[in-house]
Amino acid sequence: MRPRSEYAEPYRIKVVEPIQLTTREEREQIIEKSGYNVFNIPSDKVYIDFLTDSGTSAMSDRQWAGLMVGDEAYAGSRNFYRLKETVEEISGFEYVLPTHQGRAAENILTTILVKPGERVLGNMHFDTTEGHIRLKGGEPVNLVIKEGLETATRHPFKGNIDIGRLIDEIRAYSPEGISYINITVTCNSNGGQPVSMGNIREASRIAREHSIPVFLDAARFAENAYFIREREEGYENKSIAEIAREMFSYADGFTMSAKKDGLVNIGGIFATRDEELYKRAGEWGIIYEGFLTYGGLAGRDLEAMARGLQEVLNEDYLENRIGQVAYLGDCLLDCDIPIIEPTGGHGVYLDARRFLPLIPQGAFPAQALVMELYVEAGIRAVELGTAAFGHKDKKTGEMVYPALELVRLAIPRRVYTDRHMDIVVRALRNIAGRKDQIRGLKLIYEAPVLRHFTAVFERL
Ligand code: F0G
Repeated sequence: MRPRSEYAEPYRIKVVEPIQLTTREEREQIIEKSGYNVFNIPSDKVYIDFLTDSGTSAMSDRQWAGLMVGDEAYAGSRNFYRLKETVEEISGFEYVLPTHQGRAAENILTTILVKPGERVLGNMHFDTTEGHIRLKGGEPVNLVIKEGLETATRHPFKGNIDIGRLIDEIRAYSPEGISYINITVTCNSNGGQPVSMGNIREASRIAREHSIPVFLDAARFAENAYFIREREEGYENKSIAEIAREMFSYADGFTMSAKKDGLVNIGGIFATRDEELYKRAGEWGIIYEGFLTYGGLAGRDLEAMARGLQEVLNEDYLENRIGQVAYLGDCLLDCDIPIIEPTGGHGVYLDARRFLPLIPQGAFPAQALVMELYVEAGIRAVELGTAAFGHKDKKTGEMVYPALELVRLAIPRRVYTDRHMDIVVRALRNIAGRKDQIRGLKLIYEAPVLRHFTAVFERL
């Protein structure tokens, strides 16, 4: 395995959580019983859990200590004020509404901004955002640059919005037809790919000319800021905090799942600079989440979130975090395993179509690869391909396949060591060695929406 950098993790381990080893025979039985769906596997039976980087971070000793100073008052908890100050310091947004997680903030934002028939423009909306937009009768529109959908094309900012297409959309539908612009940083749906400062600035300039509000989906804002520092001219000597502040300066507000860069296990935020919007958001926040100063969370959770948001800006932390993802990606490329290049912020995305070219998309190649990873080494990944995004066309009844057939290895923050990454590389190398024998899957049950969570498959 290749060496990574001069330094190892910028922390030492104070508490450990044992993980269970299972045998291949046990895993074969478990996977069959799960209906070939890793969402049905008890986490105790998983050795390395790459299902998501959401809510799976290890908290620091300072965050754990913060839990003990939780103020559980229904209104005006001191931890709320700490969180509000922190958010204001990082983003410049004065009005802060905590929520129980990211999608709750999206629910509030779409409730107040989206009217039936309106379009919400973005680079690539996350699936819960899409869901909320559609539930309000709106139309989510993805305008990511074309390189963003090509797995083997190297581009430093594959999360960028295609500005030409943005202008076309605005010309065609503005002003009545567009609710707002939503820029997801980093862009989860195509590999945790960053958006450049120049792109955010330009999209925002155009939006402001047309009085269209701009929101960031800021779940992974610090990882995006790190990429800007590493890759964009003029930012190499700026601090992560300065870069983040500039990113937010181009927006009217943000929604955030704090389960990612908030370094907490639960929590979300809606924030804005617009008092009027905050008041309207608050009305819905109270109904859906709880009073304005706790938003469905305990005071202790607010404290952990405030502390996490400060820690995530630490440059050594980010270098190690992004470095670990790149390390895994580089090791896989060394073994000719096809991934989205360059690697993004929160995980490595395998290109299942190139990895398993013999399995047609209708037989779920990405889902088949997820099965193999579990059976091979107890690694749980997530399918982001036909199982998650394939659907029947409403008019013709024909299958519509997604542009990308991916398996995401999402890496929890501060949880696994590079030795775990080496195990993953070995497992994938073994799978690659026997890939001609891998069979596809057949879907035998699907729910009407977000079908991959509960789908049941059979091996072909
Ligand atoms: N926005 C982005 C970009 C996300 O990645 C997620 C969640 C959300 C919003 C919703 O936040 O889960 O706190 O309600 N992503 C997780 C994932 C689930 O695995 O990528 P939430």
